Amino acid sequence: MSSQLKAQIVLDRNYKIARVDERIYGSFIEHLGRAVYGGIYDPHHEQADEQGFRKDVIHLVKELQVPIIRYPGGNFVSGYNWEDGVGPMRDRPRRLELAWRTIETNEIGTNEFADWANKVNADVMMAVNLGTRGIDAARNLLEYTNHPGGTYWSDLRKSHGYEKPHKFKTWCLGNEMDGPWQIGHKTAHEYGRIAKETAKAMKLVDPDIELVACGSSNTGMATFPEWEAITLDHTYEEVDYISLHQYYGNHENDPANYLAKNMDMDHFIKTVTSTCDYIKAKHRSKKTMHLSFDEWNVWYHSREADKKIEPWTISPPQLEDHYNFEDALLVGSMLITFLQHADRVKMACLAQLVNVIAPIMTENNGRAWKQTIFYPYMHTSIYGRGVSIKPILSSPKYDSKEFTDVPYIDCAAVFHEENEELTLFLVNKHLSETIHLNADIRSFEEYQVVEHLVLENDHLKAANTAESQNVVPHANGESTNEGGQLQIIVPKTSWNVIRLKKFMM
Ligand code: AHR
Repeated sequence: MSSQLKAQIVLDRNYKIARVDERIYGSFIEHLGRAVYGGIYDPHHEQADEQGFRKDVIHLVKELQVPIIRYPGGNFVSGYNWEDGVGPMRDRPRRLELAWRTIETNEIGTNEFADWANKVNADVMMAVNLGTRGIDAARNLLEYTNHPGGTYWSDLRKSHGYEKPHKFKTWCLGNEMDGPWQIGHKTAHEYGRIAKETAKAMKLVDPDIELVACGSSNTGMATFPEWEAITLDHTYEEVDYISLHQYYGNHENDPANYLAKNMDMDHFIKTVTSTCDYIKAKHRSKKTMHLSFDEWNVWYHSREADKKIEPWTISPPQLEDHYNFEDALLVGSMLITFLQHADRVKMACLAQLVNVIAPIMTENNGRAWKQTIFYPYMHTSIYGRGVSIKPILSSPKYDSKEFTDVPYIDCAAVFHEENEELTLFLVNKHLSETIHLNADIRSFEEYQVVEHLVLENDHLKAANTAESQNVVPHANGESTNEGGQLQIIVPKTSWNVIRLKKFMM
């Protein structure tokens, strides 16, 4: 007997969640492993430009249309002296880099990274060191990067060849300060105080900046969500965002449970949102705090290999996860989760961008290629701009080891009014069954399907390499709109992008 699984959604153009802030398609480059050296920068590579940046990597990053990139860390920033990375290269010191126990050559620093970000059309989300340093280093760095001139630090920038200020708008007040692994780890009260005072000083230097306070490093932290409550109690009026970080892995090789992990992310976002609103009420504040999910991804494949890395080497291959097809499905579901929370999540950074837990891999002095997770990230970044519309979903559900009532279907919809385009993003988590989805889109009746992209594979562990792209999307998805009823075939374990455009009758 055939067991045809069915699901329904109702999409109404008036059910608006919020305009999608394009910065949810941000990413992250840390001075870690081969992200910078061997990744974006490889001066001896045949594709190196006049500054030593790899043009093939620039091309791939541009395909992703990344609007903002966090820099320079990560754990790295908590031991970083930004002054080491500016001025003539020959004078820059080599340092023991304590977060990842490597040697940092400082060939690339703030100015070069700003140049590279310009080349890929991205803004920079800077982070200041609140681990080993504090208010003074942060305000000096901001004066160096953002002040026009006529002062010690801004004139120093000019003397380094950067006449115009970089005008970095978004700044993170430290990184994962709740984590005992962090250099200069703090209690929530210690962090809340230093974050508030640093924020005050930085906004005196440049009132136009936006600041992100550190939230919890993951949902498993014993201090979550008290950390957010205390931190925001100190900083509520000074900061603009609270950060969230989360990585998932399929440690137990349980795909059904693994693919459900964006439910944990959803819960994380809801809890942080509630905590923000509690502090808003407590402070009788008019301001609404927004969320910056500035580190997220799958991260587990490389954990064992990393234990074998020799300390005090230069840019070793750290955190080099080789992603498979099921990882791409979870990444797709995580992106859908951000779109479902477009009213509060205004920034998010896929961690990271090149080589280190990344959609783009390179060989030193060799090829560059797209990992499986490249595709859902690219699709949402390109087609997920506009207003997030709330789909009312009825889907069959399943229970897994950690989660109950997991809908097989994940769904988000984005309406780009000016371009008259509607895009649906769908994941089918069912390991063996196609799902027939009926989408009632009567308020988009004149819209017809122009493309149905599908990422599917019979092997959950299929991966891409420099030699072969085994996991790539195709455009043969099946969906048709008849009188406002969109019939969509959603293959087992698949990522789908259904693009509709208005056609005049
Ligand atoms: O992205 C890798 C690391 O993960 C970052 O340095 C740190 O912030 C997080 O723990």
